Amino acid sequence: MSQVDLFQQAADILHENDRGHYTIPTKGLYPFQWNWDSCLTALGMAWLDEARAWTEIDTLFVHQWDDGMVPHIIFHEPDEGYFPGPDVWDVGRETPTTGITQPAVAGFAVKRLYERCQDRALARTRASALLPKIADWHEWFYRCRDPQQTGLVAVLHPWETGRDNSIDWDVPFEQVPTEGVGPYTRRDTQHANPEHRPTQAQYDRYIWLVQHFRALGWDNTRLHDASPFQVVDPGFNAILLRSCADLATLADELDMPALAARQRALVAQGLAAFNTLWSEQHQQYLCQDRVSGELIDSLSSGGLLAVFAGIDRTHAQKIARRIEVLGSRCSYLVPSHDPADPRFDGRRYWRGPSWLIVNYMIMDGLLEHGYEATAEKILRGSLALIRESGFAEYYDPLSGEPCGGGRFTWTAAMVLEFLQRD
Ligand code: GLC
Repeated sequence: MSQVDLFQQAADILHENDRGHYTIPTKGLYPFQWNWDSCLTALGMAWLDEARAWTEIDTLFVHQWDDGMVPHIIFHEPDEGYFPGPDVWDVGRETPTTGITQPAVAGFAVKRLYERCQDRALARTRASALLPKIADWHEWFYRCRDPQQTGLVAVLHPWETGRDNSIDWDVPFEQVPTEGVGPYTRRDTQHANPEHRPTQAQYDRYIWLVQHFRALGWDNTRLHDASPFQVVDPGFNAILLRSCADLATLADELDMPALAARQRALVAQGLAAFNTLWSEQHQQYLCQDRVSGELIDSLSSGGLLAVFAGIDRTHAQKIARRIEVLGSRCSYLVPSHDPADPRFDGRRYWRGPSWLIVNYMIMDGLLEHGYEATAEKILRGSLALIRESGFAEYYDPLSGEPCGGGRFTWTAAMVLEFLQRD
C-alpha cells in the first residue's frame, strides 16, 4: 500500500468517526468522547483541518469539572451499547461524564499543535485560552492525587491509566472487594472478541470502585484516601510531567511567566521523585502500590513510557536498551507487557498487545533523548502493522493479528503522524 493510500485511509477513518465537535474512538465499542483519545487524535487531525483539531481539545475542556478534573469520558449522546453508562457513574452534570480522569496528555498535544499549525493567529488564540485550563487540571492532580506531596500522583482506578487491563493492577486489585456489585450486563464483549477483553472478576472490581466513589459523592477531596486502589504509575506520571514541561515552554511563548514557573516547579519535584520507581533488577521503572508501599513486579509498557518525560540520561539509556531486548522477544514493538513473563497474553487488552499511541509517545521520548535507531524500529513496526492488519485498536506483538475494535480513530491519527516522519 502506498503512503498516499495509507494517508487517505487514515483520513477516511477520522471523518467517519467525527461527530462535528468531537470524535468517537470507534463505532459500537466506544460511542462517546474519550479524554486522551481526543488529545492524541487532534494531532493527526491537524494534517487535515487545523481549526477542527483545536475544537477536539476545546470540546474536552468545556466539560472540565469545577475542581479542575478533566473526565475520562464525556457522554455527549445517549447510547445503550456501552456499559457502565451515565446512570452508573451518576456524577450529576448536565452533560454526563465519568467521575475519573485519564492520562494528562493535553499539555503535550497543545504545544505540538501550536508549533505545527500554519494558521498562527488561530493557534495563538486557541492555545492561550486552553493554557490556564490545562494548568488547572495539573493543579488538580497534585492537590487531589498527591495529598502527601511526594511529587508523584496516584491513580484510583485502572481506567484512569489508559492501560485499563494491565497486569500491573493484578496485585493492587486484590485489595478491591467485589461484594455488593449488583447484577449488570457487559456490553464490551458484544462488540469485541471476549478473549481480547477483561475477565468477569476484573470487571466486578472496576464496577466496585465506581460504586464506592459514587457513594462518596465524587468528592475529590475524599476519594484518594478512601480508595483501596492507589497506584503510582510511571507511564501516567511521565505523561503528566511531559505535559507540565511543555505547558511551561508554551506559557513562556505566550507571555504567561507565572504559569510557566509553576509548571517548571512541578516538573522539578516530579522528576526528583521518579527514581523511587526504578528497578535495577529489571532495568526499567515499575508501578508502586501506594497502599502497601511496594513496587509492583510487573514489566509493562508503563515503565517504558517514562522516557516520554525528561528523565536522566542513564535511565533513558537503560530504557532504550530494554526496548531493544523486548524487540528480540516479539515481531512488533512495543508490547504492553514483556513476552518473557508467563502472564503475558498477546491478544488480551493491555496484557501484551502493542498500541500505536504508546509507540508514538515512546518513540518521541527516544528521539528527545537521542535514540534514533530504536525510535526508527518502532516507526517501521507500527507502519508494518497497519499495512498487514489495518487500523485496529491494538495488535498481537508476536503475530501482528488485529485485536479489539476496528477502524480506530487514534490508530488512524497516529498513522498520519508516523507518515510525516517516514
Ligand atoms: C480503552 C483503552 C483506553 C482508551 C479507550 C478508548 O478503554 O484502554 O485507553 O482511552 O479504550 O479508546
